[in-house]
Amino acid sequence: MTTESEAQVSEAQIAAHWREEEYVYPPPKFIGQANVSDPAILDRFREDRFPECFKEYADLLTWEKYWETTLDTSNAPFWRWFVGGRLNACFNCVDRHLPKYRNKAAFIWVPEPEDAETQVITYQELYRRVNEVAAVLREHCGLKTGDRVTIHMPMVPELPVTMLACARLGIIHSVVFGGFSGAACGDRIADSESRVLISMDAYYRNGELLDHKAKADEAVEVAARAGVQVERVLVWRRFPGRYESATPMVAGRDEFMDEVLRTYRNRIVDPVSMPAEAPLFLMYTSGTTARPKGCQHSTGGYLAYVAGTSKYYQDIHPEDTYWCFADIGWITGHSYIVYGPLALAATSVMYEGVPTYPDAGRPWRIAERLGVNIFHTAPTTIRMLRKLGPDEPKKYDYHFKHMTTVGEPIEPEVWRWYHQVVGKGEAVIVDTWWQTENGGFLGSTLPALQPMKPGSCGPGVLGIFPVILDEEGREVPPGSGKAGNMVIRNPWPGIFQTIWGQPDRFIDIYYRKYNRNPNSKDWHDWPYFAGDGALQAADGYFRILGRVDDVINVAGHRLGTKELESAALTVEEVAEAAAVPVIDELRGRAVEIYASLKPGFQPSKEIEDKISAAIERLIGPIARPKSVWIVPDMPKTRSGKIMRRVIAGISNFTSPGDITTLANPEVVDVINRRVRSAKVERGQVPRELSEAELEEIRAFGKVE
Ligand code: WT7
Repeated sequence: MTTESEAQVSEAQIAAHWREEEYVYPPPKFIGQANVSDPAILDRFREDRFPECFKEYADLLTWEKYWETTLDTSNAPFWRWFVGGRLNACFNCVDRHLPKYRNKAAFIWVPEPEDAETQVITYQELYRRVNEVAAVLREHCGLKTGDRVTIHMPMVPELPVTMLACARLGIIHSVVFGGFSGAACGDRIADSESRVLISMDAYYRNGELLDHKAKADEAVEVAARAGVQVERVLVWRRFPGRYESATPMVAGRDEFMDEVLRTYRNRIVDPVSMPAEAPLFLMYTSGTTARPKGCQHSTGGYLAYVAGTSKYYQDIHPEDTYWCFADIGWITGHSYIVYGPLALAATSVMYEGVPTYPDAGRPWRIAERLGVNIFHTAPTTIRMLRKLGPDEPKKYDYHFKHMTTVGEPIEPEVWRWYHQVVGKGEAVIVDTWWQTENGGFLGSTLPALQPMKPGSCGPGVLGIFPVILDEEGREVPPGSGKAGNMVIRNPWPGIFQTIWGQPDRFIDIYYRKYNRNPNSKDWHDWPYFAGDGALQAADGYFRILGRVDDVINVAGHRLGTKELESAALTVEEVAEAAAVPVIDELRGRAVEIYASLKPGFQPSKEIEDKISAAIERLIGPIARPKSVWIVPDMPKTRSGKIMRRVIAGISNFTSPGDITTLANPEVVDVINRRVRSAKVERGQVPRELSEAELEEIRAFGKVE
C-alpha cells in the first residue's frame, strides 16, 4: 500500500511513452517574408531581459501616455503591467489605422448561406459603426467607464463592432458564446452584474435560421432570480428592419438596435483615455466548481501581448488575409479575430456558420474566393473536415503561408493531413498552447525560426519560461520521459488580472500550489499552475497531455465536471451525478454522465433523456452527454467522495485502477458489466488508447 502523497507522485510521474516525431522545417518562401526571421529576437527575450523585453510588444501600440513601470509586483500575484501608461484599445484597433488604411478591409464577413452576399467592412466603415454604437451605449443607455455589459451574439460583424464600442468608452464587455443557453448567459450576467444585455434576433447555423432572442428572455429571468435586474436588452436584427424571432419584444426593456441607431447616425464619440491596468473585458470559463470564473483581462498588457504574438507567431502583415475559424465568444476569437489582428491593421475574415455547411468543401471555397493566406482553427474542426472531405482541399485554388492549431492536443496523423492536404505542404503550422486565463499564446514554435514537431506545441513563446513540476514542486527535467504539471515561472502582460469578484479563488487555483512564500513580492516565488499535464522533450518542446483538474475539454471547449453535475442534479429524480470524459474521434473528448436516483425511482430512458435535456438547457448543446448511465450507486471512497477515475476507466474500457480503497468496491463490477454490454450493443466500443490518454483517464478527478 502506498501513502496518499506517494500515490500522487507516482501518478504524475508515470512515464508516458510516445514516439518522438521528426522535425518539419518551414519553407524558405515563408522565412523570406516573415515578420521575424532573425534569431536575435530570442536573445532580446532572454530571461535576464525580463520584464523589459515586453517593451517590444507594448511599442506596437499607440500610447497616449507612456508607462513608467513595466511590471509592478508589489501586490503579487496581482501583477500590474505598464503602470502609469494610458491608452484606448478601440483607438489602437481602429482610429489609428485610418490615415494609412482607411479603405482597406478590416473585416470580411461571410454569411452561412452560400448564395448570400459577403460583407466587406473597411476601417473607415468600422470606425463609423463603432462610434455610432458607442453613442448609443453612452447616451441612450447611460453606460459609463467601468460598467459591465453582457453581449450574447453569434458570429456577425455587429459583435466586434459592439465590443469595440465598449472598449472605446472603457465599458467592460463580457461576451458569452452564442451557442450557450439563455440560462448560462443569465448566470454570467448575474456574476458580472450587467444591467444591459446585447443580443440578436436570429442567425444561421447548419442551414437553419435559429431563434436567438428567446435566450435573452431566459437569461434576464435567470439573472433576476440571482438578484441582478437587466434594465435594457438591445437586439440587433440579422436582417435590419425584419424581426426573425418568434419571441415578443418586451415593452420598456427591449429595443431594436437598428431603430435606436437612427438617432445616432454619423455621431463621433471620442475614445476614453484608460489606464493600462483598467479591465478591458471579462471572459468566463469553467473550472473545478459550478460557478464560472470571469477572467478579467487588462487593457494595456493584454493588447500589447495579443499584438506582439499576432505579429510574431501568426505572422500577420497588413497585406495578409487572415482567417481565424473560431468563435469570437471564446478567448481565441477575442485575441486572434478581433484585438490582435486589428491592432496590426490586418484584414480579418469572419464566418457565420458551421465548417461543413453545405459540405466539407466550404472552408476551402471561402479561402479561394477571399484569397485567405493565414488559416487558424482547432483540431476538432480539422478532424471533422478530414473525415467528411479528405480530398476537398485539393479541388480549390488557395494557398496558405501559415496555419494554426489551438485548443487541444492534435494527433500527429491529423497534423500531417493538415500540413500536407490543407496546407498543400506550403504552409508553416504553429500549434499554440494557452488558456482563457492567459490572454495569448504561451507555447508555440516561432514559425520562421523553430522547426515544427507534430503533436508538440513547441517551447515557451518569447518571454515565457515554462517548467514541468511534480506534485512536490520538484522540476521534472526535459527528456526524462516523465509527465508532470505545466507551470509558467514568470508573469506576462497577457495574464488575466483576477477572477471577477473572487480574488481569493484566483490565488487558490493558480498560485497556491507552488507559491514559496505568500508574502513575497518577488515574481520568482509565484509560479503559475496551468492545470495541464505535460511532458518536455530533450529539445525543450512541450507535449500537452490534457487537464489534470476536473475539466473536460470537448472540441476545444472547457466544461467543468461540477457545472455538468449540478445541471444533472436539477432533474428531480437524481440523487448524485458524476461527469467523466470519454475519448471521442471527432471532438477529442465527449462527456458521459453517471447518475444514481433518489429512493423510490426506477431507472428509465425517460430519466436519461431528462438529464441530457437539463444539461443542454442549462449549459448548451456542446455539453450534451454522449451517454447517460443510471447506476445503483456511485463508486466512492470511505470519506464519501465519488471516484471519477474509476468510472472514467469504465467508460473508456480501460482498467478502473485500484479499487481496494473504495467503500463499495462491489458496485464497480456491476456498473462495468452494464456499461460495457450497452456500449457493445450500441457499437460504441472505444479504440485502444495511447499511453498519454490512459494516463489522463487514470489521473482524472484525483480524489485519493
Ligand atoms: C485548455 C484551455 C486558449 C485556446 C482555446 C482553449 C487545452 C489549449 C492546446 C494545444 C494541447 C491545448 C489545454 C488548456 N489546450 N491549446 N495547442 N495543445 N492542449 O482555451 O477553453 O481556456 O482551454 O485547452 O488543456 O489548459 P480554454
